[in-house]
Amino acid sequence: MKLFHRKLFPNGREHIYFLGIKIFSHDTGKTEIGPDGNYDQWLRNRGVKVGKNCHIWGQQNLPSEPYFIEIGDNTMIAFGCTFLTHDGSINACEKLVTDFSNLRKLGRVTIGTDCFIGCQVIFLPGVTIGNNCVIGAGSVVTKNVPDGEVWAGNPAHFITTTKKLAKKLEKQSNSEE
Ligand SMILES: CC(C)(COP(=O)(O)OP(=O)(O)OC[C@H]1O[C@@H](n2cnc3c(N)ncnc32)[C@H](O)[C@@H]1OP(=O)(O)O)[C@@H](O)C(=O)NCCC(=O)NCCS
Repeated sequence: MKLFHRKLFPNGREHIYFLGIKIFSHDTGKTEIGPDGNYDQWLRNRGVKVGKNCHIWGQQNLPSEPYFIEIGDNTMIAFGCTFLTHDGSINACEKLVTDFSNLRKLGRVTIGTDCFIGCQVIFLPGVTIGNNCVIGAGSVVTKNVPDGEVWAGNPAHFITTTKKLAKKLEKQSNSEE
């Protein structure tokens, strides 16, 4: 047995043991993943602008410009979404034209407040999701989504309004009593 050993937990807490007995416990200040599994700080540490009271359930796939991503207050994002903020197709095209050295195929991804983003959604560069929207699991979002709408599919398209979805869920909840 080692005289001293350290154990670092994903929530940033570190325990130090002496002959296997915990003698010290402290916060390393590197907290990334909350004890409840919230990855909001994990995103902030990488440069994503995350609003207040957001719930980010699991790791997300980030581009080389995470600071181009903004998430509004009270938004929930399920696991495994992909945020794209640039387009690599230039690589295949550059030898076919004389010059497009001034072209920047970059775009911000902005998500409004009070949204729910299903798992494994892909956001293309430049899209804005309004406030109070729902994006269905596995969708590929290629266009802006107006406030209060539910979109899903590849490419993502209008399914219903968030208000109608809420009414439907309320009805289901009442019938399950
Ligand atoms: C988007 C969502 C909220 C819609 O819920 P809903 O309105 O009850 O959905 P419905 O089953 O009534 O489907 C309505 C239509 O949308 C389509 N649809 C629903 N979800 C879809 C999705 N993720 N991708 C593509 N189409 C979808 C349905 O096929 C249906 O189409 P139709 O009218 O042509 O038959 C839900 O389907 C969803 O994707 N939830 C996210 C789940 C998730 O990611 N959970 C993570 C754990 S936190």
